[in-house]
Amino acid sequence: MTTLAEFETDQTVDPQEFRQAMKFVPTPVAIVTAMTEDGPVGMTVGSFTSVSLSPTLVTFFVDVSSTTWPRLKTSPTFTINVLGHDKGDLCRAFSRKGSDRFDGVDWSVNKSGNPVLADASVSLECTTYSTLILGDHVQVVGEVRGFEVHDEGMPLVFFNGSFLDLADRA
Ligand SMILES: Cc1cc2nc3c(=O)[nH]c(=O)nc-3n(C[C@H](O)[C@H](O)[C@H](O)COP(=O)(O)O)c2cc1C
Repeated sequence: MTTLAEFETDQTVDPQEFRQAMKFVPTPVAIVTAMTEDGPVGMTVGSFTSVSLSPTLVTFFVDVSSTTWPRLKTSPTFTINVLGHDKGDLCRAFSRKGSDRFDGVDWSVNKSGNPVLADASVSLECTTYSTLILGDHVQVVGEVRGFEVHDEGMPLVFFNGSFLDLADRA
């Protein structure tokens, strides 16, 4: 279900200047995966965060122009694969357009039937709880049905257009 939230806005901030400022807000990096009739799909998101403990909810935001989202949303479930500090290559592979993002990637299928990347540090199995159009993004909220912590090392963090070098803290 997608709800269109209609809010009155009187925008006073330039979107590109806003984007520049947001570069200085660090984000985690996760790959959202799902299994569809046409095979596995996945995309990199920096907008993943937890929402609620009871029920266990998480969220991420997808650009309405994403070509991955129309395929991802055909699945009632999805998996969040959180990346560790040395998995920048996976981040790039799953944000690249027009390529087979799973090519050369080691993955297996979890109970929900979705791909779990072997290199994920944390994987969370989710059912879609709600979706909401907010401006030029769709907020996807998932209810977590199961999770695994595969690696307790340092996370991959995106900041000012590149990855923070957290290797020496691992
Ligand atoms: C570090 C990083 C974080 C990203 N975060 C998001 C995000 O939160 N939401 C989003 O829609 N796209 C995000 N992207 C872009 C998508 O991964 C990518 O552009 C998209 O999957 C490619 O377009 P497609 O969906 O049409 O294939 C991010 C890319 C990178 C490199």
